[in-house]
Amino acid sequence: MARLLFRAPRPDEPDAVQAVHEAAFGRTDEAALVRRLRQAGDSRLELLAEADGEVVAHVMYSLVRIEHGDDGHALGLAPLGVLPPWQRHGVGSALVRRSLDVLRQAGTARLAVVLGDPAYYARFGFAPAAQAGLHDVYGGGDAFMALALRPGGLDGCRGRVDYAPAFDQLPE
Ligand SMILES: CC(C)(COP(=O)(O)OP(=O)(O)OC[C@H]1O[C@@H](n2cnc3c(N)ncnc32)[C@H](O)[C@@H]1OP(=O)(O)O)[C@@H](O)C(=O)NCCC(=O)NCCS
Repeated sequence: MARLLFRAPRPDEPDAVQAVHEAAFGRTDEAALVRRLRQAGDSRLELLAEADGEVVAHVMYSLVRIEHGDDGHALGLAPLGVLPPWQRHGVGSALVRRSLDVLRQAGTARLAVVLGDPAYYARFGFAPAAQAGLHDVYGGGDAFMALALRPGGLDGCRGRVDYAPAFDQLPE
């Protein structure tokens, strides 16, 4: 596999990030979600993977609200997209691992949640959020997962987790 470079997107290259999500998901909704989250100021971390000068993957974390015990430092991972020719080569995993390291080192965020395939996200330490007393509004069940980003990061928060308003326009 080509050597991957991880970095934040530059302001002059929004199209490359949009193109990753449009190709990964086969629709424009996730690319539009990225735009709306940025515009609303709800994005907290973006990281992309570049291979041989090409943007091949992108992940975003945005603010979520927790019903009880919210301190404004809980994040939702979404969207995560990898260009189809680059899928299943470890790029998505490497990008998620690097982004979680960035968040842990920054030390601001207490936890991250994600709605996705449990078999995929378990490898990064995500576990069903219900174990921490958290649930989503989409009926995600075990697909809704949480990860503490610092010791005790999941302590003291319970109840419904609401993603940023930009997610309201995302179809199922
Ligand atoms: C899902 C996605 C981000 C994974 O990234 P990736 O670079 O292809 O995955 P990796 O190479 O890091 O990991 C591959 C592993 O994940 C598994 N995997 C990949 N995509 C998966 C999926 N959609 N569901 C479940 N498992 C998946 C593979 O079986 C493989 O498992 P293994 O390591 O045990 O063999 C990427 O395939 C993608 O962009 N898909 C389309 C968009 C999407 O569905 N995004 C998910 C948002 S939650």
